[in-house]
Amino acid sequence: MCGIVAYQGEKQAYPILIKGLHRLEYRGYDSAGIALLNPGEDIRLYKCKGKVSDLESFAEGKYNGGTMGVGHTRWATHGVPDDKNAHPHFSESGNLVIIHNGIIENYASLKKELQNRGHVFKSDTDTEVLIYLIENIQKNEGKDLVSAVMTALNQVVGAYAIVILSKDNPDLMIGAKKGSPLVVGVGSNNEFFIASDATPIIEYTRNVVYLDDEEIVILERGKEMKIKTIRNQDKTPYVHELEMQLETIEKGGFDHFMLKEIHEQPRSIRDNMRGRLNIDLREVTLGGIIDYQSKIMNADRIIIVACGTSWHAGLVGEYLIEDLARIPVEVEYASEFRYRNPIITEKDLVIAISQSGETADTLAAVELAKSKGATIFGICNVVGSSIARATHAGSYTHAGPEIGVASTKAFTAQVTVLTLMALVFAHKKGTISEAKYQQLLLGLDEIPKKIEEMLKSDDKIRYISDIYKDANNFLYLGRSYNFPIALEGALKLKEISYIHAEGYPAAEMKHGPIALIDENMPVVVIAPNKGAYEKILSNVQEVKARGGKIIAIVTEGDTDVASLADHVIEIPETEEELTPLLSVIPLQLLAYHIAIMRGCNVDQPRNLAKSVTVE
Ligand code: G6P
Repeated sequence: MCGIVAYQGEKQAYPILIKGLHRLEYRGYDSAGIALLNPGEDIRLYKCKGKVSDLESFAEGKYNGGTMGVGHTRWATHGVPDDKNAHPHFSESGNLVIIHNGIIENYASLKKELQNRGHVFKSDTDTEVLIYLIENIQKNEGKDLVSAVMTALNQVVGAYAIVILSKDNPDLMIGAKKGSPLVVGVGSNNEFFIASDATPIIEYTRNVVYLDDEEIVILERGKEMKIKTIRNQDKTPYVHELEMQLETIEKGGFDHFMLKEIHEQPRSIRDNMRGRLNIDLREVTLGGIIDYQSKIMNADRIIIVACGTSWHAGLVGEYLIEDLARIPVEVEYASEFRYRNPIITEKDLVIAISQSGETADTLAAVELAKSKGATIFGICNVVGSSIARATHAGSYTHAGPEIGVASTKAFTAQVTVLTLMALVFAHKKGTISEAKYQQLLLGLDEIPKKIEEMLKSDDKIRYISDIYKDANNFLYLGRSYNFPIALEGALKLKEISYIHAEGYPAAEMKHGPIALIDENMPVVVIAPNKGAYEKILSNVQEVKARGGKIIAIVTEGDTDVASLADHVIEIPETEEELTPLLSVIPLQLLAYHIAIMRGCNVDQPRNLAKSVTVE
């Protein structure tokens, strides 16, 4: 995780770096730092524990100008989040400075070797080992900085996105990547930016180059950009044009990104379906699968790999694809899948779901499945991300940048793509009737409007939030298509409000969680009037009999569950297969309001980061 940003040009670097760090703060916010380079002077370093705003207060009145610099916002891996472990890190002599996102896995052995040779480290980080190593190679092997960086990167095991500056080479900025993302912005008049994603760059230039793994970018003032591999092969930079709009990464009048993103869902789902769902022709086309259609149709099974909220979307996908298209589906935590020697064959289709497209475990699961010959399909939000590039085919979710750490609009966009996929498979395979197919298309087309209606008034959810904001535990129950939504509702609450919450299949409650139910336990039951409605009614009665407080998510006009529940939140009528797209909305809002009432930072919850690029 961690966010990195760097600037070389004619403007003052500090304000550009600070603004960039604010944009990247979703990637980690344990500490922050900036280093500025002025030719002929020592590199100046400003860093401290805490958020970017703490760094601003710390650097206030202290920093000197500089037209080249690097900035870092940290999510701690090696070493506690304190001032000394904050990035940037100096080399031993102070001649070099580095920012790093990733993990150097063999840092301990490299560190020991350097310590045996008398070198003394100032921090507990793996990053400091890397910059010491580079300086050592420079000195001992008489190499120039670029060659020393290459040699060092050939010795390290792990992931990195780094930028290095050198006091002795004040016109040079070097970036490199493997595993962690890195994008280079190409401005006018020899102005360059390097960052973990395009958000710090977008207002200065739309021209970017995405670095591939084991590539180094060499930016020397007054010269053309050079890209080489760490084995010194020349590469030709390929300039992409960014499509992202600046407004999409700002709060747009909302108090928090999370609330803005919840409210964006009607638009993001519409954008997602645009060009895919043609309601006049009653047709779905998914451009991303056309080339692989026959392989997909003949796949023995589908394996979905993902983490966190994306894994919950995968579970909804399992219900959809098995139910509608009758293809067996397994949903795997990417982190478990990659280490348990899974059986994967060339006849498998693996779907990797990831908002960021950078989650290390999901990326590794994709590489593993690819090496076994499976066809890999990606469902990613971030265009040009590592997972999107590593897959054979895919469909972007087009939700726009998601900044709030707790995923909301990316989740509904993922579920929308999975619904479209299931419909394409089912229609082509003839596993659903034409009438059902058309009903689902019409239903899907109406989802954005229905969410819009639901979002118009959330007073009731706010009222319920106020009653239960001090609870210590929450239970979320759902069945069938809404079991994954129970998991997602519980995850949202625990992520941002720090209340312990568990999601459970409603009937499984009897096998454990029922023991916890008393008058202090709020139980959120997702009970739309479809599928196993009668069964869930019995589960509600079981909770009621033990004094639990029931918050029920029901279909408009429901009376049965409503008569038993303490509180009722209605969702509009829709097909059972589409209910997850509606039932998740009040759960996002419930988590949001409770977290706000508890004084939590909803956009940057403690200990979390949006993009988990470490295992
Ligand atoms: C982190 C985020 C979650 C996200 C998960 C997977 O834990 O906080 O919101 O669901 O990573 O991320 P991905 O980008 O792969 O969807």
